[in-house]
Amino acid sequence: YPARMKRSIPELQHSAAPLVMVTAYDYPGGRHAEAAGVDLILVGDSLGNVVLGYDSTAPVTLGDMIHHARAVRRGAPGTFMVVDLPFGTYHTGVQDAMRSAVKVIQETGADAIKMEGATPEILQVVQTLTRNGIPVMGHVGLMPQTATAQGGLRVQGKDDGTARATLEGAVALEAAGAFSVVLEAIPARLANLISERLHVPTIGIGAGVGCDGQVLVTHDLLGVYEGDEKKIAKRYAEIGRLSREAIEAYAAEVRGRHFPTKENSFVMKDDVLGKLY
Ligand code: KIV
Ligand code: NA
Repeated sequence: YPARMKRSIPELQHSAAPLVMVTAYDYPGGRHAEAAGVDLILVGDSLGNVVLGYDSTAPVTLGDMIHHARAVRRGAPGTFMVVDLPFGTYHTGVQDAMRSAVKVIQETGADAIKMEGATPEILQVVQTLTRNGIPVMGHVGLMPQTATAQGGLRVQGKDDGTARATLEGAVALEAAGAFSVVLEAIPARLANLISERLHVPTIGIGAGVGCDGQVLVTHDLLGVYEGDEKKIAKRYAEIGRLSREAIEAYAAEVRGRHFPTKENSFVMKDDVLGKLY
């Protein structure tokens, strides 16, 4: 790949072009993202849904995140990598949150961690981590880890109560030291307002074109799951269909004895073979 210096936080914050972030969960995902030249890779806890087959992010553990982030890092040594702290690993006090974040940084080579929410407790964690030199990306709007408490996976900020909470949460995260904030599933005009208010870059998913950057779950943009169309994502490929068709073609050739061919097989000298009879 063309050698390229990893983006620094000031470079990310002063980028003239919208920031491009994609998720990755393994070595090939890291390689593809880095080769494509994205600005940031997110090892998201969407890992639980798109890779581990859970129906929410709640079962994902710190060990899961570390295992996968290490593989991503091996595939993308030169890209700014953010790793999600999963549910429950930063909610039991500032010290526990600090310990989780340090473990992720030390064991994966992450450049930053991300956490959801802007409660007073979370803001205190963000402040402590950032004061101790751990870059934190915030996340407001729809927050999958606590979606049940938000009334399910639904757009946030349509009414003035949740709109105000989302705006104030983002502002407070910046004040607490977050270097960037993800805005998930909020109306585009609210995302525009938040992006104007914040000095640090907003990164949107389902938050309109006015954010300072965009993030998508790679499996959504690749179309890994057939029939799983999402409003907030665009399918730039149909990898799921291609994968299934490739496996079907292989299966048909095996069953018809068309694979393997001579080209896929090894030869042996006749005299060697003769000694075996
Ligand atoms: O886990 C994830 O993939 C995320 C993005 C959707 C922002 O948090
Ligand atoms: Na996440």
